[in-house]
Amino acid sequence: MDKMIIRGGARLIGEVQIGGAKNAALPLFMAALLTRDPIRLRNVPALRDINTVEKLLRNMGIRVERKGAEALVQAESLDTIEAPYDLVRTMRASILVLGPLLARAHEAKVSLPGGCAIGTRPINLHLDGFQALGAEIELEHGYIHARAEKLVGTTIDLPLPTVTGTENLMMAAALAEGTTVIENAAREPEVVEVGNFINRMGGRISGLGTKTLVIEGVGALHGTEYTIMPDRVEAATYMVAAGMTRGNLLLRGARAEHLTAVIDKLREAGMEIHQENGGIRCLITGPIKSVDAKTLPYPGFPTDVQAQLMAMMCFANGLSVISETVFENRFMHVSELKRMGADIQVEGHSAIVRGLGELSGAPVMATDLRASASLVLAGLAANGTTEISRIYHLDRGYERMEEKLRAVGADIQRVKA
Ligand code: EPZ
Repeated sequence: MDKMIIRGGARLIGEVQIGGAKNAALPLFMAALLTRDPIRLRNVPALRDINTVEKLLRNMGIRVERKGAEALVQAESLDTIEAPYDLVRTMRASILVLGPLLARAHEAKVSLPGGCAIGTRPINLHLDGFQALGAEIELEHGYIHARAEKLVGTTIDLPLPTVTGTENLMMAAALAEGTTVIENAAREPEVVEVGNFINRMGGRISGLGTKTLVIEGVGALHGTEYTIMPDRVEAATYMVAAGMTRGNLLLRGARAEHLTAVIDKLREAGMEIHQENGGIRCLITGPIKSVDAKTLPYPGFPTDVQAQLMAMMCFANGLSVISETVFENRFMHVSELKRMGADIQVEGHSAIVRGLGELSGAPVMATDLRASASLVLAGLAANGTTEISRIYHLDRGYERMEEKLRAVGADIQRVKA
């Protein structure tokens, strides 16, 4: 397994091109199932998870052609309605195939995704929603077997604003008979992206970005072309990198309107952030200040940036309380940061960081996607050398991270195991 070797201390100065959003690209590939026509996607990021979704679709007999950041997907016919365990296990977001398959083929057999490092990740809200739309769901031998002669629009009241749950149900409802209302829908920009995409295919979804979605089912959807939005979590990660290394970065293509909670929090921590040349300029001139943060569904502070902020707070000089309200076990990076000398105490859903102004490089291990990003950030600012193992976690969600960082001055190498 590859490792990342980082010698800390370099200030990151220059420009970083932000790629297409992983958490928008994944559902858009699945939404291609909703029509027999070809779908063209642009600004597709080069990520392991995208490779996995391509494998999943090809496995079902769907035509997927990839040329750099462009993809052509055409689900003219389906060889199977099954998403096998070995693929679902590597990427939980495979569950997003359920909604489109129910709408298109009225049947789906999808392996239960199981948990992951950050939590049990149940999908009960997805399944309850499909049942409300008229699907029969059976769980047998680790598989979800869903069938629906017909999907009929109804009102679905989500107890939690689940992101992929909202996307899954939106895709199923797009071809249901009648109108579906989703209350307490997720409002993440990636959810809006999926809704915009379906509308571009001839769908009729309104209320995108609000808590109430109204989806009028249509008889059929047609092909379209679409350019995927920039990845706001990748942008947030490089913003934190600029702050931690006392650098000055221009994040090309990043959209500030998707990052208000992150920008507000990083300004509170002492950073200067403003829009420039169609991107975001981020730098710091004074000290890093300790700030408290609480992760919340959008538009609150994103859970996907919690680990990165925690790494930054280790370099402040004061107390910072970071509360994780979205997932039950998203502090796996704490023990690794402590190996680098961090003073962090976890009390239930909160981590109390006593910033010491510095960390020392050490061998550490990545456990999940955003935890691995926080370890890279810590290594960039630490004294000495940091060696990060199991870096395949990073490759799931960050395109060519070491190249992008080296281009702005980082001393970072990927070592093939
Ligand atoms: C999406 O995961 C993202 N993944 C995650 O990004 C992100 O952290 C998360 O939303 C929250 O923003 C993709 O979009 C592919 P949820 P998702 O359903 O949809 C509970 C990354 O780093 N819940 O909004 O799985 C759940 O346990 C990844 O890119 C239920 O209880 O998240 C969690 O506590 C990590 N039952 C909370 O809701 C359900 O049926 C939010 O989960 C569904 C969810």
